[in-house]
Amino acid sequence: MSIKPKHPNHELSEMKCPVNLDDVDLFSPGAQEHWYEAYDILHRDAPVHRIPGEGFLPGTDGYILTKYDDISMVVKDWERFPPGMSLGIDDMLKSGQSVEDLAKDSYINAMMTSIMTLRPNPELWRSHRQELTDPWVGPGAERNREMVTRCADRLIDNWIDKGEVEFISEFARPLPQMTMANILGFPEEDIPRLAEWGTAQVAAFVYGAGHRNILNPEQAAEQIEILEGFKEYVHEKVQEKRANPQDDMISFLCDVTYSPLDRKLTDIEINGIVYAMVIGGLETTQYALEEQAQLLCEQDGIFDELKQDRSKLRHFTEEGMRLRSPTQGLSTRTTSQDEVFQGVKVPKGSLLHLRWAAGNVDEEEFECPYEVKLDRKAVSRHLTFSAGPRVCPGAGISRLEQMIAWERLFERIDSLEYAPENKFMHQPGIMLGTLELNLKFTKAG
Ligand code: HEM
Repeated sequence: MSIKPKHPNHELSEMKCPVNLDDVDLFSPGAQEHWYEAYDILHRDAPVHRIPGEGFLPGTDGYILTKYDDISMVVKDWERFPPGMSLGIDDMLKSGQSVEDLAKDSYINAMMTSIMTLRPNPELWRSHRQELTDPWVGPGAERNREMVTRCADRLIDNWIDKGEVEFISEFARPLPQMTMANILGFPEEDIPRLAEWGTAQVAAFVYGAGHRNILNPEQAAEQIEILEGFKEYVHEKVQEKRANPQDDMISFLCDVTYSPLDRKLTDIEINGIVYAMVIGGLETTQYALEEQAQLLCEQDGIFDELKQDRSKLRHFTEEGMRLRSPTQGLSTRTTSQDEVFQGVKVPKGSLLHLRWAAGNVDEEEFECPYEVKLDRKAVSRHLTFSAGPRVCPGAGISRLEQMIAWERLFERIDSLEYAPENKFMHQPGIMLGTLELNLKFTKAG
């Protein structure tokens, strides 16, 4: 049985389902309603798809990679496929300005400067992950188990007696917000403000044009203005925690000695790391959870199978992330030499759009790609978190949140189905996320 994401009610859909290659444009308004149909066409007719004039530099092109093997090879080889961000950082380094001056320009630069000083190359990228983020959101995420469990149960308590729930606003969105606030050491009452800043951070990935996610000048100016508030907020928290350390990630970052540089972190650097945790840690896990809820409503028998055998939950969450990847694609790598992918020549200096979601349903890699298989071999080899030196540093905490969410939900409900009033509209941009999800359930007896 094929379980591509639900299409919206027909009259609400802005875009027709693509039938052949000429119809495929992954970035036009409404395209998100039919991405998976487009992936089938791309795999068949254009697994490496050129987007003319859409490279970083004038006269260069963008290329969408959709095959698992191509994407996997690219992300594992930093030298051959350098991240586009490195080019921006090189420019900043060449400008001769001090890090402090660059950071004053805008908050986005504050984050870039923290990358410039803490992880300008693959070796330091690895140290950054291992020493600064792994203890909290990577392999060390387990330390948050009790806290995440309490958060999940508090949310479920709010609606368990109602028999129905708007799953996104009442569970999938607040759970990662509460989790990240607690990890970083922000009071939960600040979550509405943090959510507003989080929304501003991801604005380019939602409203940005084309595969490069470009905001127009007004949108960019508004984003910078809103994020100044976040910069000040984090700055205040860093001062508070330097004076009065607590058991949280910001206090840890204030105290840790970063071994490659043999020194402690500056305020700007901590601010940059916190920015990365908020931009990466909220909506991604929200979408993973709500798409998994939809899979449970759609694939017959799977809810009962998991209810009876919770040891299969790990397979379920991995398959959910493979089949409905929250981050569908990113344009983050360039070619440092002429390349050939699937027989297609890609010149040096091109920009690669890595379409993780298409790689994850590549039938040459995954047998029956559109099925949730609770016994799939090497189930976590999907590309949802990427791979290689820049693999998502938050995979540990996201996986933990997803596991705990479903452990607690399976403990507390006996059935789950769509409520009648769903529109199944997805948000624009490069993330796969339904805007609203009404579910019915029976409370466990
Ligand atoms: C299901 C949830 C998530 C998905 C699908 C996801 C996906 C990704 C992907 C595809 C990348 C790009 C890697 C690359 O370019 O090779 C990435 C990077 C990143 N993710 Fe995640 N992520 C998730 C959860 C999280 C969480 C919970 C956090 C934070 C706690 C986080 C923080 C980051 C950061 C900071 C980066 C950028 C690393 C860098 O500086 O390059 N992510 N993520």
